[in-house]
Amino acid sequence: MTDGNDSPAPIAHLLACPRCDGRLQLDEERLSCPACTMQFPSVGRVPWLFAEPHATLGEWRVRIDAELADLVRRAADVQSAIARCERGSTAHRRLSLLLRGYQGQHAAVTDLMAPIRPPNLEAPLAAHLALRTRLPPSQGLMSYQANLHRDWAWGTDENRASIALVHGAMTNVPDGPLLVQGAGAGRLAYDIACARPQTTVVALDFNPLLLVAARINAGAAITQWEFPLAPRTVDDVAVERRLRVEQQADNLHFVLADALRAPFHAAQFTVVVTPWFVDVVSEDLATLARRINRLLATNGRWVIFGSLAFEHADPLERRSLPEVEDCIRESGFDVVTVTEAEIPYLQSPASRHGRVERVVAIGATKVRDVPSPPRHVALPDWLTLGNAPVPLLESFKLQAMTTRIYAFVMAMIDGRRSVKDMARLMDERKLMPRDEAEAAIRGFLIKMFDEANAPRR
Ligand SMILES: C[S@@+](CC[C@H](N)C(=O)[O-])C[C@H]1O[C@@H](n2cnc3c(N)ncnc32)[C@H](O)[C@@H]1O
Repeated sequence: MTDGNDSPAPIAHLLACPRCDGRLQLDEERLSCPACTMQFPSVGRVPWLFAEPHATLGEWRVRIDAELADLVRRAADVQSAIARCERGSTAHRRLSLLLRGYQGQHAAVTDLMAPIRPPNLEAPLAAHLALRTRLPPSQGLMSYQANLHRDWAWGTDENRASIALVHGAMTNVPDGPLLVQGAGAGRLAYDIACARPQTTVVALDFNPLLLVAARINAGAAITQWEFPLAPRTVDDVAVERRLRVEQQADNLHFVLADALRAPFHAAQFTVVVTPWFVDVVSEDLATLARRINRLLATNGRWVIFGSLAFEHADPLERRSLPEVEDCIRESGFDVVTVTEAEIPYLQSPASRHGRVERVVAIGATKVRDVPSPPRHVALPDWLTLGNAPVPLLESFKLQAMTTRIYAFVMAMIDGRRSVKDMARLMDERKLMPRDEAEAAIRGFLIKMFDEANAPRR
């Protein structure tokens, strides 16, 4: 990890401890909480203000490692496919470019994430898979890869339409600090900062992809490879892009933190913008609304932007637009504007895939304080701190049993035994009656076989 050179001083008065909400101390560019005796690192010049900063750093390292290991595996797959095709053929050209892309992206991510992931910290992919630290695509560093290229390479139409709608939802608000929660790759926050040079704009996300925006806004050119979902041409399977901007926004600041433990003092912001955020965040809208209420000064504006595609497991939480409005009102806001519009969405020029979304921009003014919800607890202490016993949950017991059976089946694969031989062994060990075991082993091996042959994109 490298500590930053940029000072968090311009926004230090806004920042609070994500553990106790107390005042942070800024000492030689380092933020710390005297009450919690906790120092918060800076990562790539951006304050890393998580309640358990070291545990979160470790978790992201593992995720980044897994993504890098995955790029290595994809490159190896492509390399072996190249060996099977004729030199000079279109397939050879396509695969050679893809290989260059995977290798280039590996180098680019390694470089970008160097502040978080010191070199020589690689763990084998098998270890990640075994420990399930390989994240589902929705939670990885590169989950928002298309957003990154839209933000900084080809998304002018979408970016313009987005900023226009967001601006429309924040008319008549007094000037003051503005927070973008879930800023992603950072373009909207950057555009707001450029349009309002007198306003202090803070972009917050818990994904270190935010470092791209921080580096670009510091004047760097970042290399990233785009791998479009449906490449238009052979040359579009992997596209190397240099991401940069002409103009830097000095009033734009970055914070890596969990929005559910937003590290700010109460009532500091005049505007809080949540772009494509309220429907992806793990918390229910009513609780989130109360957290946003706390961050805003009275008469401050909450701007909700996006398509409201709620993903919650609880059907009650997958709210329609009128239910969203009701919830906002019940959380101390007056809904002042609701605008719906169709805008292009992730229409990469290198892809045949691209969407049009009917988005909504809601502007809601804070009219009263509401009680703040309790501090958000993402994970229990035995997971984050690692020094309390791991509880023997019922689901863990069941998982331990199934894992033993899986391990037993995998260990029986020796290149000679048939499914029937394995079923007999399971029967002998009294793990399962033979007939049942045969069907179960077949089902399990089909799943493994399918997974082994599944396309890796
Ligand atoms: C759908 S993306 C939208 C990103 C960006 N606003 C855009 O429009 O491209 C949602 C963003 O919210 C971030 N996010 C989700 N939960 C978060 C949390 N609890 N704290 C901070 N960021 C979060 C994700 O990392 C991601 O960048």
